[in-house]
Amino acid sequence: MAFPQNRILSGIQPTGNLHLGNYLGAIKNWVAMQNDYECLFCIVDLHAITVWPDLGDIAQSSREVAAGMIASGIDVNQSTVFIQSHVPAHAQLAWVFNCVARLGWLNRMTQFKDKAGKNKEKASSGLMVYPNLMAADILTYKASHVPTGEDQKQHLELARDIAQKFNVDTGKDVFPLPEPVIQGPGTRVMSLRDGQRKMSKSDISDMTRINMTDSSDVIADKIRRAKTDPDALPGSKDDLAGRPEANNLINIYAALSDRSVEDVIMEFSGQGFGALKPKLAELAVSVLGPIASRMSELLADPAELDRLLARGAEKATSLAEPVLAEAYEAIGFSPRA
Ligand code: TYM
Repeated sequence: MAFPQNRILSGIQPTGNLHLGNYLGAIKNWVAMQNDYECLFCIVDLHAITVWPDLGDIAQSSREVAAGMIASGIDVNQSTVFIQSHVPAHAQLAWVFNCVARLGWLNRMTQFKDKAGKNKEKASSGLMVYPNLMAADILTYKASHVPTGEDQKQHLELARDIAQKFNVDTGKDVFPLPEPVIQGPGTRVMSLRDGQRKMSKSDISDMTRINMTDSSDVIADKIRRAKTDPDALPGSKDDLAGRPEANNLINIYAALSDRSVEDVIMEFSGQGFGALKPKLAELAVSVLGPIASRMSELLADPAELDRLLARGAEKATSLAEPVLAEAYEAIGFSPRA
């Protein structure tokens, strides 16, 4: 059977605030791709509970993520936006993949090691099999492309391995091998306080990240206080090596302004951070300000957001169920009479 050639599936966890990394590494690229692909964007609440019991208000966070996507330009009449737990096929296929993926594969996942921390024994088993659920998210739609930030690369490779092993083991070509799409200067946005660490929802210091709902003043203040080094900005990309904070700010500038890193370097070459930071703050405020206002308008009507998400779940279910049935049949489960 032919696979869809232009179908995207990607996801975001409803944990904490959406931040600039989520926007530049994922959402902004999704908006740019939605005219050329059939898109499914999933709010992955089942993934969020892998860090049980630090859950917060998952239902409200899910609405915030939906509002963030829509405010950024995802068109719900064109793309399907839905909540993972509303479409049971994800969890059902994930169970199958728990039996396909090898423990050795999961043991190599660096994100598990990072998230589980020193005490691996205390991590939930869900955190260990997290990438299997991710593979299910993607493969239950036979997605051809998966646009994400750089941090998801290893998980996306695993999804391909799972698809391949399932096909080989069952002798049926059920799943495509989805292509990761990790492109542009915003795929690895780093902390504003440490250019070697990823900007993240889970960092305890709010000064490390720009949240999509931060006010203009807060954004400007965070950028003003971002860590830098004493040197002037360089004249070439190579000279950014070993200068993680400078590299990060230049990449953010390029991603926010849709310009190449080379172009931005040319503009600021030889100048200090005193020249770059105010311009970056202005740029960030001009991009994020309108998104934040639109988000708060959308969040003022939670019932409407819930309606949109229910509609998305209905569409997603209609695509996912036949693929799950095909996978069950390939395994050889008894057909339901
Ligand atoms: P999550 O919720 O951590 O992040 C959502 C998206 O934002 C990207 N991202 C970043 N990009 C650049 N710089 C950063 N600092 C940064 N932080 C986050 C992520 O790469 C991601 O694209 N496991 C996934 C969610 C997921 C998923 C999926 C993704 C579940 N199922 C299926 C794709 C396909 C996650 O935790 O993303």
